Amino acid sequence: MALFIYPWAVLSLFCILPQLSTADSSVATCQELNTILGSVVIEQDEPGYAALSTEHWSQTACESPTCIFHPQVVGDLQKVVSLLVTTNTSFAIRSGGHDPNPGDASINDGVLIDLSNLTRLDYDQDKGVAVLGTGLRWGQVYSYLEDHNVTVGGGRAVDVGVGGLTLGCGLTWLADLYGLACDNVVDFEIVLADGTLAHANNSTNTDLFWALKGGGNNFGVVTAFTYPTYPIKDCWGGFKRYSVDQLPDLLDAYYQYQTVPNKDPYANLIILASPTNATDVGAFVGMLYLKPEANPAAFAPFYDIPTTSDDTTFQTLLEFIAAYPFPEIQRFHWATSSFTPEQSLYGEVADIILNSPDVAAIGSVEAGFMASTIQPLSASAIEAGNARGGNALGLSASAQTLLAINSGWWSPADDGTVHDAARNIVDSIDSASKAKDSYVAYTFMNDASWDQQVIASYGTDNVSKLKQVQSKYDPNLVFQKLVPGGFKLATPIRTRGAC
Ligand SMILES: Cc1cc2nc3c(=O)[nH]c(=O)nc-3n(C[C@H](O)[C@H](O)[C@H](O)COP(=O)(O)OP(=O)(O)OC[C@H]3O[C@@H](n4cnc5c(N)ncnc54)[C@H](O)[C@@H]3O)c2cc1C
Ligand SMILES: *[C@@H]1O[C@H](CO)[C@@H](O)[C@H](O)[C@H]1NC(C)=O
Ligand SMILES: *[C@@H]1O[C@H](CO)[C@@H](O)[C@H](O)[C@H]1NC(C)=O
Ligand SMILES: *[C@@H]1O[C@H](CO)[C@@H](O)[C@H](O)[C@H]1NC(C)=O
Ligand SMILES: *[C@@H]1O[C@H](CO)[C@@H](O)[C@H](O)[C@H]1NC(C)=O
Ligand SMILES: *[C@@H]1O[C@H](CO)[C@@H](O)[C@H](O)[C@H]1NC(C)=O
Ligand SMILES: *[C@@H]1O[C@H](CO)[C@@H](O)[C@H](O)[C@H]1NC(C)=O
Ligand SMILES: *[C@@H]1O[C@H](CO)[C@@H](O)[C@H](O)[C@H]1NC(C)=O
Repeated sequence: MALFIYPWAVLSLFCILPQLSTADSSVATCQELNTILGSVVIEQDEPGYAALSTEHWSQTACESPTCIFHPQVVGDLQKVVSLLVTTNTSFAIRSGGHDPNPGDASINDGVLIDLSNLTRLDYDQDKGVAVLGTGLRWGQVYSYLEDHNVTVGGGRAVDVGVGGLTLGCGLTWLADLYGLACDNVVDFEIVLADGTLAHANNSTNTDLFWALKGGGNNFGVVTAFTYPTYPIKDCWGGFKRYSVDQLPDLLDAYYQYQTVPNKDPYANLIILASPTNATDVGAFVGMLYLKPEANPAAFAPFYDIPTTSDDTTFQTLLEFIAAYPFPEIQRFHWATSSFTPEQSLYGEVADIILNSPDVAAIGSVEAGFMASTIQPLSASAIEAGNARGGNALGLSASAQTLLAINSGWWSPADDGTVHDAARNIVDSIDSASKAKDSYVAYTFMNDASWDQQVIASYGTDNVSKLKQVQSKYDPNLVFQKLVPGGFKLATPIRTRGAC
């Protein structure tokens, strides 16, 4: 019996076991795949299926694929993409599985391509680049590179996947120096809809290179990303914690931090406030200086605000990243709003976060948790991205905030309540920023709810250029029609909520 109990214990942090389901067309495709590829195709009755189908950070993302294709080599992936296209079989693409939106990286009645074994990691010290397989987690990347005293402009959490984070453009601690994660990439290796393996960089397939910087899963299955490495390791930073009702003071300090002339690009921060969990979480500022210099002037506006605790110290970049606290809850939902700095707006944002009845509604469901996360992006970050060839996002080079409303809860019965309340909070913040002329249309893919319009937010010119690139590399719209999940270029809005 122990054999049967053990997987449950492991899975309890992730997803509950799904109901088995079948769809005739994908069943036949899965049998064919199994005949050709054997052990890397896992069907519903095979060992390993339960663990792999539930390997999502949030249970909201779990579905019951007809089978799971778990490639170990890129050549198999090329064969399978071709076969899925010729058999007209729907599929989903997953790297780190950290996207909480139902169906973005999972599927019912179709094939799940799980890329977690594409974990190539080649550091070329002479060229100053690292090739990162899409299946790596950022913690694996940073710990390997830190041994060589270098890092890359990747994610701010160790568990998150390289693939999804980069294709959503990715907020990174190095953004103010080198741009968003996608801006850093100098080469994408990608399996296209016809099964060919292509590269996209600034000399080959240059239009696709641009489109992949913001294009999500709309153009192909990316197998590896080449990132430049930087000699950054020893830092100063940590978490200063506050009572949640100090949020207005924190946002005043944040306004000063953001609007100082020539903001120091080595300084970066994140502010989190959780009124639903005022006593156990409260508010904190995670501040990081990318040099070993204590108490840099960039954070001066915060230094006079009294803390409840403070662990800022000299530490490595990886030590800082690994210390970021995440709650352990079964279900998550993200939603996002963007705006430029405006002091009176920040007062209104603090008021919405602390006092909105929608926040109380999230707090009142079983294990309800709501955190608002304030993430700055400076003008220098956008300029750095432009200098590297630019991306599809349509951002203007000025300071802005990418705010996330991060909600957690326990029961599927509350999915709708939490989603609707979180969207109301975002709508309230959007209305407030519009009234102050501080609204930014750009909707950050990596923090967006399934019903936010991400790609349309890049602007009509960028969208039409993306469609031109699509018609060249995927003329039959395979990644629109056969890959229903993720933020799509062709589909304006999704109406689908829970699994
Ligand atoms: C704890 C936590 C911390 C986070 N921290 C950050 C952060 O610091 N910065 C930030 O920007 N975001 C952050 N995020 C958001 C995160 O970037 C997104 O959820 C992202 O989608 C996760 O990538 P993944 O590979 O794990 O996701 P998955 O769920 O595997 O994939 C997400 C989407 O990308 C597509 N996709 C994935 N890989 C490929 C590929 N190789 N080819 C084509 N399409 C692909 C999938 O189809 C899906 O639509 C965080 C999320 C969590 C849960
Ligand atoms: C592919 O499947 C879809 C439904 O999933 C169907 O509408 C379409 O006609 C099919 N295409 C072909 C070429 O069979
Ligand atoms: C392949 O992935 C599985 C889990 O997804 C993991 O247990 C295994 O170690 C991986 N194998 C290799 C060679 O990376
Ligand atoms: C990394 O730096 C440390 C000290 O700064 C040094 O001792 C070590 O040799 C370096 N490692 C490599 C691989 O360069
Ligand atoms: C760009 O792609 C070409 C074709 O594959 C490759 O030869 C070249 O090395 C790539 N450039 C970079 C910077 O990766
Ligand atoms: C192209 O990329 C290479 C490698 O990253 C870089 O050295 C070169 O300056 C880039 N050229 C242009 C025109 O952006
Ligand atoms: C706070 O968050 C935890 C999860 O980390 C949750 O279980 C709890 O119910 C939340 N609410 C309160 C009031 O502590
Ligand atoms: C993308 O949008 C920005 C802002 O609207 C615009 O300046 C830029 O020219 C657009 N890029 C393309 C290629 O259309």
